[in-house]
Amino acid sequence: MTSAASDVDAPVTPRIVLGVGGGIAAYKACEVLRRLTESGHSVRVVPTEGALKFVGAATFEALSGQVVSADPFDDVHEVPHVKLGQNADLVVVAPATANLIAKAAHGLADDLLTNTLLTARCPVLLVPAMHTEMWEHPATQHNVQLLRSRGVTVAEPASGRLTGKDTGKGRLPDPAEIVELARLLLVRPDALRRTLEGVHVAISAGGTREPLDPVRFIGNRSSGKQGYALARVAAQRGARVTLVAGNTADLATPSGVDLVRVGSAVELRDVMHKVSADADVVVMAAAVADFRPSSLTGHKIKKTDGDPDPITLTKNPDILVELVSARRTGQLIVGFAAETGDETTSVLDYGRAKLRRKGCDLLVLNAVGDGKAFEQDDNAGWLLSPDGDETPIPHGPKTQVASAVWDAVSSRLTDSQ
Ligand code: CTP
Repeated sequence: MTSAASDVDAPVTPRIVLGVGGGIAAYKACEVLRRLTESGHSVRVVPTEGALKFVGAATFEALSGQVVSADPFDDVHEVPHVKLGQNADLVVVAPATANLIAKAAHGLADDLLTNTLLTARCPVLLVPAMHTEMWEHPATQHNVQLLRSRGVTVAEPASGRLTGKDTGKGRLPDPAEIVELARLLLVRPDALRRTLEGVHVAISAGGTREPLDPVRFIGNRSSGKQGYALARVAAQRGARVTLVAGNTADLATPSGVDLVRVGSAVELRDVMHKVSADADVVVMAAAVADFRPSSLTGHKIKKTDGDPDPITLTKNPDILVELVSARRTGQLIVGFAAETGDETTSVLDYGRAKLRRKGCDLLVLNAVGDGKAFEQDDNAGWLLSPDGDETPIPHGPKTQVASAVWDAVSSRLTDSQ
């Protein structure tokens, strides 16, 4: 790809304050810390007294290489209760308990972490973890709204196993997901604004597998990472998300997302038609096989069967084109295109032609080849729309590309209201 998509200036060694609240999920903060330090961030851990009952300061000190204290009266000459917040590029609190969220919402400052939250002027990410009843309590919900209205990012908790045997909403998202959200906020502080509240989005991701016999298939290299990043960011922006996934790398289901698994292109088509009937926005990020074997052998093809017949192929339906022709009034449809340029035609020209052919409202265009896009954590490209708008998407994490897509979608949804 050309340099039209420039790198975003992220701090060279971003300084992160990792606040840890006093919940059982505090042990997962160790994994968050490890991932952040290993990816080149300088992390100062600020636990609450409650957190130190679950994980010792020595663990945090060993993993961060920095001193750890919950008390603003330690090292007073360094004025930590002011300096830590002032000097941070990002504050992440994981887990954020109901109590900590309440204190943050009301400006209480009775320990080092709550002081830090008052002095921080950088992006703040609170990652809640608590029992479902506590999360759903009107007091907590009010505090969350209050914080969000002030620009604090309060993540959607995951659903699943809680402290005991019970399950429900309120589980701490996976450490990998927390780190992904943190990385995103460092490059795009407003990336997780709640612009998709009340919106249902259906997203396809990953590659389809076209079966030849019960054990073999024709597939492709898609990892599904871009589709999962779209789902993750949409859910954090407040959308109801249905993620329809074909074959993907080993990816954790994003918090707050309904996942439907599919295999072949025909299966994907059926599910996409079903979920799109109720969706406000449909995104086809899946790598759909254009052809499938014309016949499916019911038994495993054996070497002893003799020389195999050549594989004949049948064209698969173009799901995106079908969804566009079935589009409801007001529904937005987003397509993807992964292109390589050649001597006669540029990547952008191929993208423009594909947008016309598919008829969608937005096309995310990625240049591929030379190790770009497929199976990578980062991506870049352009966002094309039929009115001729061509917005470059800067190189960055796939969540950042997702944010650019949701920005464009959100402004179109607002315009159409
Ligand atoms: N797509 C689809 N159904 C297909 C093939 C593609 O819905 N049978 C969607 C993809 O999910 C993507 C867009 O169409 O959103 C473009 O996919 P791409 O593979 O780039 O385009 P093709 O239509 O297959 O065209 P070609 O590969 O010939 O460039």
